[in-house]
Amino acid sequence: MKLLILNGPNLKYLGSREPHIYGTKTMEELEGELRELMRSQISDGELELISSDYEGALIERLYQRDFDGLIINPGALSHYSLALSDALSALSVPKVEVHISNVFAREQERQNMVTAKNVDVVIAGAGPRVYAMAMEYLVEIYLRKTGIHV
Ligand code: DQA
Repeated sequence: MKLLILNGPNLKYLGSREPHIYGTKTMEELEGELRELMRSQISDGELELISSDYEGALIERLYQRDFDGLIINPGALSHYSLALSDALSALSVPKVEVHISNVFAREQERQNMVTAKNVDVVIAGAGPRVYAMAMEYLVEIYLRKTGIHV
């Protein structure tokens, strides 16, 4: 199983960016934890994590179609990018949108969820562990689909 994790603008600065909102864990530390979790969950698991500040780079990566499940944190693009939303709509693998903060309890402009309309599941507000929650969900779906039971 290949899992792609895509992070949008500003997320590569996790740990130093507004730690009172997003915490002090860096994206590198988080990636290490997620790799370990993936290993513990599935024997043939592969994980690719990309953080980009560029909308087009995220869209181009989505169209490569070489993964079985997607975790995406589009950052601020979640609230206005019809282009990214369209790319998600055209993608048929299981997809989960995650948000570290509870966007629904924040400013009014963050209530507009554009990309969330084109994913299967949205997880928000649990801190950086939203990525692990999404991974557990996607691995379970994959194992169920492929008939492998653990
Ligand atoms: C975020 C929430 C967005 O509103 C914000 O623009 C981000 C991070 C989150 O993970 O909580 O960059 O996606």
